[in-house]
Amino acid sequence: MPSSLGPHSFEIERQNHSDLKGHRSLLLWFTGMSGAGKSSIANRVQANLHDNRLHTCMLDGDQLRRGLSADLGFTDADRKENIRRTAEVGKLMVDAGVITLVCLISPFEQERRIARALFAPDDFIEIFIDAPLHVLEQRDPRGLYAKARQGLIKNFTGIDSPYERPVSPDIVIDSAACSIEQAAQTIEAFLQNCCPAS
Ligand code: ADX
Repeated sequence: MPSSLGPHSFEIERQNHSDLKGHRSLLLWFTGMSGAGKSSIANRVQANLHDNRLHTCMLDGDQLRRGLSADLGFTDADRKENIRRTAEVGKLMVDAGVITLVCLISPFEQERRIARALFAPDDFIEIFIDAPLHVLEQRDPRGLYAKARQGLIKNFTGIDSPYERPVSPDIVIDSAACSIEQAAQTIEAFLQNCCPAS
């Protein structure tokens, strides 16, 4: 980081945003393989939070890769950069008082740990959306696993690129064993217990 960068103290800080919005902010980090249900479950959680008049923002991998991370592919290095950028944007959103939902495969434990380290302990909730590979290959709504098996897509997570299961996630959802609504309820119950103001 250049030493010429100085911190500017702005008048409006996170607490001011929270006071205005009437609730605290935090980040929900959904990790899991493609097709596990991250976006579907996060979508339900976001809709429920929104119905309760809470301010939210969705940072979804498929969407980010059309803009912020359009220059990145799926090598390990590009995924690390994708995770880094998304975590930094998430930090800005949380500082702006917004409950932020991140949906990224984010396959590497170390990068998830680096992302977590940007936040205070209570502000980062790691949610592992788990499902066995054979279930994901059966679901395969966009045919991506089939293409990866045929070698038409390279570096596909779970096929020829690794997914490191989270070591100590805050919440684990077995998406093969519960509905989207049940998964959302599990997450909302956790939020009510750990951070009632949200
Ligand atoms: S991450 O590894 O960098 O966190 P990210 O969540 O942004 O991945 O993107 C995953 C999405 O990209 C998947 O949902 C899938 O639609 C698409 N995709 C395209 N190629 C690949 C690939 N090689 N591996 C995984 N996902 C891929």
